[in-house]
Amino acid sequence: MTIVNGYEQSDREQKLDILNLPSLENAAKKIIPAGGFGYISGGSEDNWTLGANTSAFNHAQIVPKALSNIENPDTSTSIFGIDLKTPVMMAPAAAQGLAHSRGEVSTAEGVAAAGALMAQSTYSSTSIAATAAAAGGAPQFFQLYMSKDWDFNYALLDEAKKAGVKAIILTVDATVDGYRESDIINDFQFPIPMANLQKFAEGDGKGKGIGEIYASAAQKINEDDVRRIAEYTKLPVIVKGIQSPEDALRAIGAGAAGIYVSNHGGRQLNGGPASFDVLPAIAKAVNKRVPIIFDSGVRRGSHVFKALAAGADLVAFARPAIYGLALGGSQGVQSVFEHITHELTITMQLAGTKTIADVKQAPLTHFNY
Ligand SMILES: Cc1cc2nc3c(=O)[nH]c(=O)nc-3n(C[C@H](O)[C@H](O)[C@H](O)COP(=O)(O)O)c2cc1C
Repeated sequence: MTIVNGYEQSDREQKLDILNLPSLENAAKKIIPAGGFGYISGGSEDNWTLGANTSAFNHAQIVPKALSNIENPDTSTSIFGIDLKTPVMMAPAAAQGLAHSRGEVSTAEGVAAAGALMAQSTYSSTSIAATAAAAGGAPQFFQLYMSKDWDFNYALLDEAKKAGVKAIILTVDATVDGYRESDIINDFQFPIPMANLQKFAEGDGKGKGIGEIYASAAQKINEDDVRRIAEYTKLPVIVKGIQSPEDALRAIGAGAAGIYVSNHGGRQLNGGPASFDVLPAIAKAVNKRVPIIFDSGVRRGSHVFKALAAGADLVAFARPAIYGLALGGSQGVQSVFEHITHELTITMQLAGTKTIADVKQAPLTHFNY
């Protein structure tokens, strides 16, 4: 264990023997300090949307296909010409030093070892350059929380470009922080600095609450910002936090190269729909013009399958990977990605789908239990 500013960080480094991803939460709760665990696990208000995200996968069912004459399903796929072993991606998540002393550096190693794609958060515990280097050439995206201060935005985008990231994810659903009761109960303040903020006047985030961090975020975000970031970086810009066909079309109209369907894991607008429930209508509106990344509530191989069949091209999660990080460092993260990909392989075989392209064509039936 490493103690930083009174906060106990895990130092574990081990492969995990995983039964299923949901079981990791209780195990991680035992080793992540209460404030950090509340920040990671919590949603907003009464957590209704957080819960609905996972249960909504029961609103669609996979059609079993036994006589399809396939074996050894192949989970490899690609996005923007980047080849990946699995369609499961590490969502951008802040402050992973709360889970492990090596933070995002360990996550990057584990994600790369699993052949998956990682997104780095603006509010990472480790710097863009260090996290990118840890991936050893494996692809990464950088997620920007747009500040009111464009010098800040440009400086981070410059660093991300220099580190070789392949795309920018612009998160648009967190212009203020959601009403997160666990952080209020725990009077949670970040005990560990945010490496990317260190050189800026507002400070590095240490000792600040989540509301204070978001205070510098831009509240007014529109299509011009998408255009400006795309023109400045010349990288694909993926707009994250899309929950309606209207917003998806506005983002594409502004030059977005990808749409990221997400409700921030139920941490922002509580009372909004489950992310999976809005995916089909958004996919229909996007009509394959740009790729779609999906997250919020994904815990099972069958969830990954259903999201792909409902229109996603990549499927992400954050919490299970962060729990894997606390429990097993980089090898723990690798175990999490390999486990869900293993579950996906079983689902693909039983649904008669040999490739991810086949999964994307697979029918879903709808029956509300
Ligand atoms: C601890 C934590 C920190 C997060 N930080 C960010 C962030 O910095 N930027 C961002 O765009 N999304 C952030 N998210 C949201 C994730 O990218 C993702 O949308 C969400 O976690 C998906 O839900 P799941 O974790 O239940 O799979 C964070 C989520 C968690 C759990």
